[in-house]
Amino acid sequence: MRTSRSAVLALAALLLGGALWAGGALGQAPRVPALGPLPAVPSPPDNPTTAAKVELGKLLFWDTRLSGDVSTSCATCHDPKLDWGDGGALSRGYPGTEHWRNSQTVLNAAYFSKLFWGGEVTSLESQASAAATGNVAGNGDPIMMEERLRQVPEYVRRFKEVFGVERPTIGIAWMAIAAFERTLVSKAEQVPFDRYARGDQSALAAGARRGLALFQGKAGCVQCHNGPLLSDENYHNLGVPRNPAFENTPLRQITLRYQHVIRGVPEKLYRSADRDLGLYYTTKQEADKGKFRTPSLRELKYTAPYMHSGVFGALEEVVEFYNRGGDENLNKSPLMRPLGLSEQEKKDLLAFLLSLSSDQPLIVEPPDLPDYAPMKVEARP
Ligand code: HEC
Ligand code: HEC
Repeated sequence: MRTSRSAVLALAALLLGGALWAGGALGQAPRVPALGPLPAVPSPPDNPTTAAKVELGKLLFWDTRLSGDVSTSCATCHDPKLDWGDGGALSRGYPGTEHWRNSQTVLNAAYFSKLFWGGEVTSLESQASAAATGNVAGNGDPIMMEERLRQVPEYVRRFKEVFGVERPTIGIAWMAIAAFERTLVSKAEQVPFDRYARGDQSALAAGARRGLALFQGKAGCVQCHNGPLLSDENYHNLGVPRNPAFENTPLRQITLRYQHVIRGVPEKLYRSADRDLGLYYTTKQEADKGKFRTPSLRELKYTAPYMHSGVFGALEEVVEFYNRGGDENLNKSPLMRPLGLSEQEKKDLLAFLLSLSSDQPLIVEPPDLPDYAPMKVEARP
């Protein structure tokens, strides 16, 4: 009697702890971090999140003065109404350029330790700086952007309140933006899969539950999409096709070629800049060509198109792509193989993917930005 009761309790604890998602019950999924609700969002000791900092970061996220020609804010390419991306298959660029990659959502970016499709930067703070100064995104000069902030009395007041400084400096502007981004995360109570993982059996219909089993079993998705973020934060080459919008737009190709120059690829590759080399830009290892960081699968309902090249407009196309084992490519991951899913199984997998999105998209209204104004100069004695 006693033993069986403790066995039941142990099983319940296993269930509640989410350990089952790692495949224990299926017996076929590899040992990977368990799926389940996201933990509390990190608040780094060197940039702790405070309400006033988040408010300041929100203003800066929308402020086009943090770009070269005051035309482009973070929100230009990460618009809450376009699911924190720019809605296009391939991103716009700073005026005069067009991006060769899809604009990623910033939702849940707070949980990644490697950012961008190629995992090129390692913190939201350094990411914000890279975006605002990068020639394809904000193209801002740090000294000029800093000076602009100093000419806005409201910013001077807020930077003093938040950081205790006499005048805004650009490095801490990135810290404030990062703090704001750390508030843009999925809430477990909003996400059907998370409610299910917490024990609400009714949160997932039968189809989505079968999809979960496929995800961890026959379809093998969990090999790379695992843990609460549904990303192993590793790099893989799936053989994702190029986007015709890239092939047909000279300006996008010119921008990629420029990327090849600044990332220092050999002359021959520069001449044939016809594809995104992904992780290779960082490592310069042949084997890393075409590898990209595994993205999260949260909020997919709202973040089409998909993949670094934005080549798939619908999740159905993504499922078809995996079902055929990806497309041919140099360095394709050995984990990519035809899956042989039936039509019903594809539907079930799709239903599971959709259950990882919030019931409602996370919308934040644009703030009213403070204006420039003449600064009071303290009378010198
Ligand atoms: C011109 C469009 C554009 C602007 C402006 C822009 N971004 Fe982005 N953002 C992108 C694109 C495109 C990517 C993917 C780039 C890549 O992988 O190289 C991206 C990626 C990101 C990511 C990575 C998400 C992830 O999952 O790794 C974050 C975070 C982000 N941007 C935040 C910002 C912030 C903060 C600003 C303002 C300082 C900003 N962006 C300005 C287009 C833009
Ligand atoms: C070998 C590792 C691996 C496996 C296995 C894998 N994925 Fe992925 N997944 C990735 C990577 C890496 C990307 C980004 C690839 C790119 O853009 O080139 C990605 C992208 C995606 C995207 C697009 C996300 C976005 O925001 O654009 C979806 C959806 C997706 N995977 C679902 C699945 C499903 C469903 C399965 C199982 C059938 C699966 N993945 C199996 C690594 C993997």
